[in-house]
Amino acid sequence: MAKRETLFSGIQPTNQTHIGNYIGALKQWVELQSSNNCLFCIVDLHAITVPQNPEKLREDIRSTAATYLAVGLDPKKCTIFVQSDVPEHAELGWIMGTVARMSELERMTQFKDKAKKQKENVSVGLFTYPALMSADILLYDTTIVPVGEDQMQHVELARTLARRFNTQFGETFNVPHAVIQKTGARIMSLDDPKTKMSKSGTLANAIFLSDAPDVITRKIMRAVTDSGKGISFDPTKKPAISNLMTIFHHVTGDSMEKIEQDFGNKGYGDFKKALAEATVEYLTPIRKKREMYMKDQKELDRILKSGAETAHKKALKKIVTIRKNMGLGR
Ligand code: AMP
Ligand code: TRP
Repeated sequence: MAKRETLFSGIQPTNQTHIGNYIGALKQWVELQSSNNCLFCIVDLHAITVPQNPEKLREDIRSTAATYLAVGLDPKKCTIFVQSDVPEHAELGWIMGTVARMSELERMTQFKDKAKKQKENVSVGLFTYPALMSADILLYDTTIVPVGEDQMQHVELARTLARRFNTQFGETFNVPHAVIQKTGARIMSLDDPKTKMSKSGTLANAIFLSDAPDVITRKIMRAVTDSGKGISFDPTKKPAISNLMTIFHHVTGDSMEKIEQDFGNKGYGDFKKALAEATVEYLTPIRKKREMYMKDQKELDRILKSGAETAHKKALKKIVTIRKNMGLGR
């Protein structure tokens, strides 16, 4: 990426952030923050599309902010803010809901999965969620959206809505691109390599960034493995080991070839032990920093307030153009 791009991405402040969020999203953000204009959002308006407890939500917003800082996002280089602090997100979210079609939202796999899981009392917000996500992205003339693979369909919708809006109301939005990790765009559950590692799955499915060393070690040692033996990267035939190798690659920097060379003939147990050690070593400083930031609420507040001001200035400028192009207001 030679040219300075505008990046936007976000994480929902629901429960704890896990190593899948880290590898799929946060790790890319940290790498990209120095050479681009970046906005990293804590998307609390998305979080409320499923029931939330207000006190816990507030705590999770702070905890997500602390995680952003702990993994190395630097407020001097990027804008870190809470979505609901910038009201233009909600306004453009509404507008995008009028640009999107029912049939497009009905096709979204995340909606279908979440609605099925929740069974009853599914909110309208859960359905229109991708319209709000499109708004987040388009509000800042974003060019690049670094996300995990599960968000590709939503980014594709943002592209469609940007183009449709431009055709109907004149050139208004940039058409953004998603970027995903080459390996690790979809980290799988430790207890079921056929499903995505997720915040709402079983406790054993995910390594949370807040997990203590003994918890990380236990989860990895108990992780499901494939039948047969040998450490080789083959996501179709050996999904469990390939997933563990992907995590190993990201926490050590070793290539898949090197991992195969070093562990090819060793047993699953030996590999898991090495993975547990490397993961603990990698995550311990992040956990400690996160705890430190959690204790400094004043500093967190200062960073989020300043981020909101920066984002708000940009958003306000853009929304005026959008309203004008659509014929809204006086
Ligand atoms: P969420 O927790 O749903 O707000 O997701 C935040 C970011 O993490 C998004 O960019 C997701 O695509 C990414 N992500 C979530 N789960 C995974 C996973 N299992 N593997 C890789 N990336 C993920
Ligand atoms: N929907 C994303 C997720 O669950 C979070 C999100 C909201 C987002 N708005 C965004 C990601 C804009 C990228 C850009 O992972």
